[in-house]
Amino acid sequence: MSVTVRDLRAFKERGERFVMLTAYDYPTARILDEAGIPVILVGDSVGNNVLGYETTIPVTMQEMLHHTRAVVRGATNALVVGDMPFMSFHTAIEDAIANAGRFLKEGGAHAIKLERPVIEVAAAIVDRGIPVMGHIGLGPQSVHAMGGYRVQGRTEEDARKILDEAQALDKAGIFALVLEGIPSDLAARITETMSAPTIGIGAGPHCDGQVLVINDLLGLGFGSYPKFAKPYAHLRETIAEAVTRFAADVAAGEFPDEAHAYR
Ligand code: KIV
Repeated sequence: MSVTVRDLRAFKERGERFVMLTAYDYPTARILDEAGIPVILVGDSVGNNVLGYETTIPVTMQEMLHHTRAVVRGATNALVVGDMPFMSFHTAIEDAIANAGRFLKEGGAHAIKLERPVIEVAAAIVDRGIPVMGHIGLGPQSVHAMGGYRVQGRTEEDARKILDEAQALDKAGIFALVLEGIPSDLAARITETMSAPTIGIGAGPHCDGQVLVINDLLGLGFGSYPKFAKPYAHLRETIAEAVTRFAADVAAGEFPDEAHAYR
């Protein structure tokens, strides 16, 4: 690792916008790392993007540690953040601290992310020397409580609540805060008032950094993409075309040809 949590604060101080991307495996992590992406999140979105779950709720600590280790092996420069899965930090604070520690000790991550405004838990983990990234606004782990994936903070009262959560997490010592699915003007207010950098996803252009799920960016998704996601490639179609051509070549007796066979 050569990017550290201090670098993210320096980006904010210099007004330099930065990116974070998710990765779930070695080759993707290596490509992102070699492309100079400073922060890689092993998101619990591995659940719906890689493991075939409908939501992130079933994702376990074992699954997260397995994918975190693969990503860490591929990333030599980026800061790797492990996402704490649903119910791994919701019970006793000691269990939350122990699970956070496993991401560093067993997973090799450099930091963890907590997808809820759990101020005391965040402060206790920071106190053990584990860097914590917060995540507020639309939390996919709370999909059932929210009644779907809904933009949060649309009323003044909800916006105030989210602003208060951001400030409390900032005081608790988090090194960065993901703002998901909130109006742009609220994200701007939070970004102005926080010392830690904000990283937006569906939170408009005024955050210090931006994050996307790698499958959305690469066009590897099934069904429709969220409004905030922009596919920069269309790899699902590219893969389908490649495997179809391979099958057609084999059927036609054109593969393997002389160039791909041993004498
Ligand atoms: O799990 C994830 O991919 C995330 C990002 C959307 C921030 O939490």
